[in-house]
Amino acid sequence: MCGIVGYIGPRSAAEICLAGLKRLEYRGYDSAGVAVISDGELDVRKVVGKLANLEEALQAEPLVGAPGIGHTRWATHGKPSVVNSHPHLSTNGRIAVVHNGIIENYGELREQLTGEGHKFVSQTDTEVMAHLVQKYYEGDLREAVRRAVLDLEGAFAFGVICADSPDELVAVRRFSPLVIGLGEGENYIASDMGAIRPETDKVYVIGDDELALITRDDVELTDLALDPIEREVFVIPWPAAAAQKGGHKHFMHKEIHEQADAMHACLAGRLSAPDQPIVLEGLAMSEREIKDLRKVVFTACGTAYHAGMVGRFVMENLAQVPAEVDLAAELRARDPVVLDGTLAVVISQSGETADTLVALRDLKAKGAKVVSVLNVVDSSIARESDGVVYIQAGPEIGVASTKAYTLQVLTTELIALRFAEVRQAAEPAVLRSLKEALLDVPQQAQELLDREDDVRAVAQAYCQMANSLFLGRGVNLASAMEGALKLKEISYVHAEGYSAGEMKHGPIALVDPNLFTVAIAVAGEVYEKMIGNIQEIKARSGPVIGVANDNDTVIGNECDHMIWVPPCAELVSPITVAIPLQLLAYHIADMRGEDIDQPRNLAKTVTVE
Ligand code: F6R
Repeated sequence: MCGIVGYIGPRSAAEICLAGLKRLEYRGYDSAGVAVISDGELDVRKVVGKLANLEEALQAEPLVGAPGIGHTRWATHGKPSVVNSHPHLSTNGRIAVVHNGIIENYGELREQLTGEGHKFVSQTDTEVMAHLVQKYYEGDLREAVRRAVLDLEGAFAFGVICADSPDELVAVRRFSPLVIGLGEGENYIASDMGAIRPETDKVYVIGDDELALITRDDVELTDLALDPIEREVFVIPWPAAAAQKGGHKHFMHKEIHEQADAMHACLAGRLSAPDQPIVLEGLAMSEREIKDLRKVVFTACGTAYHAGMVGRFVMENLAQVPAEVDLAAELRARDPVVLDGTLAVVISQSGETADTLVALRDLKAKGAKVVSVLNVVDSSIARESDGVVYIQAGPEIGVASTKAYTLQVLTTELIALRFAEVRQAAEPAVLRSLKEALLDVPQQAQELLDREDDVRAVAQAYCQMANSLFLGRGVNLASAMEGALKLKEISYVHAEGYSAGEMKHGPIALVDPNLFTVAIAVAGEVYEKMIGNIQEIKARSGPVIGVANDNDTVIGNECDHMIWVPPCAELVSPITVAIPLQLLAYHIADMRGEDIDQPRNLAKTVTVE
């Protein structure tokens, strides 16, 4: 939520901030702004709407100089407007701040600062920081930021510049993500590595309550008591091109097409052959701990929650460990009982989702061991987990999660298989055939991507309809819910993901010729029942798109349109089924002319509860 970029060095800060913000725009796009120090004065441009508007404003009236800080906003306090856009300035106009997060005690600070003569112009929580830094500034910017931060409650990552300290950029964080990029005679700050990857592959990942004093040639890291911190340089493991569209119309499309390769990378070194044990280095659990497990609680939000639904199913089915899955925001609300031997599996692409992080903390405080399944390395969730298994998807920039989902499911299945192996909970032949199925998945994913035109044709037939239902059962209930989420979030078509078994208990009343149903009926335990559900919908004149296996000779006669997927083990099928459903959502949204990479009201990394 919100993206920040900052630069100090000989080049134009505005240009570098703008380029970095473009790579962060997925974090919010309600408004944007940049401030630079130019001839000892702060100069600022702010606009409502997307970065294209900021780019235009900068072309009309360029900003010259450095250091500079930039921001792209996802509104929390105060509606999107120029005055509420960042950077925010102090009353004397000498200090500018950009912020990602929420300052919880801003009301009380605002009142106090107003009483002391500071003039507020916006409705934002962020503005208090600019005034606080002015209040404490006595010629030492880092000291002023340090003292200001001591007054704050909440979550934040800040970049701060001051016209009276023109050779410094100060950054600090608590709970919200922040990295410092290291160049030669120039340095950067950013909300994530992707924003500055084209400039440098070397970063410091900043921890909570760590303060950075950044000059052209140096970065000094300290804690809030100003004790120095030694930090290893992290080398970004993916090439600069990974954060670009690479010829695709949208990041979402590119990321859908990266799935086969990403699956190979995810399996490499972990599952080499069907008769070899699974190796998951980051898991950090001894065989004894795995054998002693009494319960596994999956928790996550949105798409990652759907991966958790598959995880729960596979964990019980294969590893025979009682398992639950909870939406992170709901888990907190219900104060769960955590018994000895409980493992929390926390799933998150970004590793920064506030609800998920707070659920992790609650479970940990109650005694659960925490293993997380993450994409972004060294994120907040990573740092608070006992073990981390990375999905190895590479950067995901499209707001709608695609490759992260299939890799979350794949990784979660590897964990369940590992547990099943150690606990000897499943017959060796069952484990062997599932491993074979997982080893085949990258090839099947590629086959499905090669069939994109077939899915596009189905999308063409339904792209004008306003209502849809996605039905699944068993392990593919998650696929139905994920398929519906993908469609609704990028196309704004009403889409409900539902258990097919629940149809008769209410939702079937919705069925009519104007609502299309996507029915997932791949081979497995629930296939016959799904065929029955399809017939019930057809009997009520509802159009049906069936999702079934290539060699199925029955289902084609039951449905209006078909999406075919190669046959595989039922437990593995959520991975393959997801791919054509992502493509279906993508093409429907594209045919409707929607802004696929930046759907309205959404942001990729949700760092507020
Ligand atoms: C939907 C989507 C979201 C995220 C959710 C959790 O396409 O991307 O539902 O899955 O906001 O985000 P992470 O995985 O970063 O914790």
